[in-house]
Amino acid sequence: MSRRPTGLSRRLGDGASIPFMGSLHPKSRPSPFLSIGLVLVGAFLIIGYLYSGSGGNGFDKAALSRLEAGASCSSEIYQALPYLKKAYGDSMHKVLHVGPDTCAVVSQLLKEEDTEAWGVEPYDLDDSDANCRSLIRKGIVRVADIKFPLPYRSKSFSLVIVSDALDYLSPKYLNKTLPELARVSSDGFIILSGYPGQRTFKVAEMSKFGRPAKLRSSTWWIRFFVQNRIEENEVAIKKFEVAAAKKAYQSTCQIFHLKSFL
Ligand SMILES: *[C@@H]1O[C@H](CO)[C@@H](O)[C@H](O)[C@H]1NC(C)=O
Repeated sequence: MSRRPTGLSRRLGDGASIPFMGSLHPKSRPSPFLSIGLVLVGAFLIIGYLYSGSGGNGFDKAALSRLEAGASCSSEIYQALPYLKKAYGDSMHKVLHVGPDTCAVVSQLLKEEDTEAWGVEPYDLDDSDANCRSLIRKGIVRVADIKFPLPYRSKSFSLVIVSDALDYLSPKYLNKTLPELARVSSDGFIILSGYPGQRTFKVAEMSKFGRPAKLRSSTWWIRFFVQNRIEENEVAIKKFEVAAAKKAYQSTCQIFHLKSFL
């Protein structure tokens, strides 16, 4: 599998409609400074446009705030979703997402047909929006420290997707949290994790995570799975790769497909 990080530019192209593109092409050949200036002005206009929130689409805003913050695997879920659906089919009907920005991810998942979704937000929500507060009030999203057992019965969900959150846990806690993900799911769980060397969150944001992200290589992760007797889900891996290859999709995060406990 090719696990090469790709540029962020693709995401802007994919996720957002860019309304001012036409006006960015001047008729005559501009000086390099003029071009750079135009691009900057364009960028500000686009950001302004997205923030003005055409109809309160949480997706664009979440994706954009992550673009500013650097790579995030929570927002990578939006890109990976079509391929996850191909790989998991009916198992996408009861999904738990665990990770930062879970309100945005859960809202997006709830828009999918035949998908119920819940979320665990592992960190304090100091700036939650009205949508997020409503999800918490309804019990769809919970704020819970994932170093402790998850507040759900075994096999409560068909699929569990965890993004970014594990990068902040030491092996000692991973030893407890990973089996928990296998326990509360029935058809498997998926880990999205940053590549080593990838910048994830703004330094200012780091305090709330307790420790800086430790981005581990795929060899590290796979060894860790073996040690904890967690098996990779070969069928899902194959299906995901085939679907992704058809559209030349390359994730900016490492994606692991794992089996639930029997
Ligand atoms: C995690 O669990 C594995 C397997 O049981 C064990 O070998 C390893 O020492 C544990 N690591 C920590 C840091 O507790």
